[in-house]
Amino acid sequence: MADGTGNWALVLHGGAKEIAPGKQKANRLGCLAALTVGAGVLRQGGSALDAVEATIRVLEHDPTFNAGRGSVRNTDGEIEMDAAIMDGATLDIGGVAAIRAVPHPVSVARLMLREQPTLLVADGARRFAEAHGAETCDPASLFSGTADGSHDTVGCVALDTSGNLAAGTSTGGIEGCAPGRVGDSPLPGCGLYADNAIGAAAFSGDGESIARTMLAARVMQSLESGPPQPAIEAAIMRLGRVGGEAGGIVLDRTGQVGWAHNSPHFAVGVATSADDRLRTYLSKNEEVAHD
Ligand code: GLY
Repeated sequence: MADGTGNWALVLHGGAKEIAPGKQKANRLGCLAALTVGAGVLRQGGSALDAVEATIRVLEHDPTFNAGRGSVRNTDGEIEMDAAIMDGATLDIGGVAAIRAVPHPVSVARLMLREQPTLLVADGARRFAEAHGAETCDPASLFSGTADGSHDTVGCVALDTSGNLAAGTSTGGIEGCAPGRVGDSPLPGCGLYADNAIGAAAFSGDGESIARTMLAARVMQSLESGPPQPAIEAAIMRLGRVGGEAGGIVLDRTGQVGWAHNSPHFAVGVATSADDRLRTYLSKNEEVAHD
């Protein structure tokens, strides 16, 4: 299936949200740190799956972002996180939802990847993590209180030098949400999708709106007949039907990049083998202004 050209590409995001001026530097530096790690994996010939997991682990460790250590609390004062990873070569998906007390939900999702279920939730997810040797932690260590805003997520899409694509997401959910609430992030076709024959996409934002409009599925459909930037812009436009804010990142199967958002800011990092530069942005306007 994979027909790699030796090209690689990686796009990450640190959330569709409003970034206060005092937090812009932390968002940019956090994206740059994760981009450095993910691009390094691909530059050395590593797999897209490894690059996506490694990138998201850096973002989960950074309390700037609402994922892992930066997660927000639900109405019970608890932290419940969602994450998923998808392999574009096999269409395998691993997902966890409403999982508690793990520092890296994306790595639990990665452990799920070759399992029959595509999604385990709550205590089932936690028990799977323990049984498979995933890291666990004190729930209190996950709450820093520094994540920006009420809704954001981290995500990553990657193309490796063998032509394999992967997508991943991780989120601490929405502040003050109902216990057990699950957003778009672990749902294939909503928060993420990857298919070597087409491309890979990941979203952030209002999970219920993204799920109701199937944004990742929409992008994949558009990518079958067109380039990634119009595809992601058209997906974000679909939110108008239901309302809500979101941002999305996409790669096509050749490594062409697209990203768009209707939120005030969208922290994004881009690196490709075309010039091997590490680029970070806090909004699409910034890309237009500086590229
Ligand atoms: N987009 C993340 C969430 O709504 O949970």
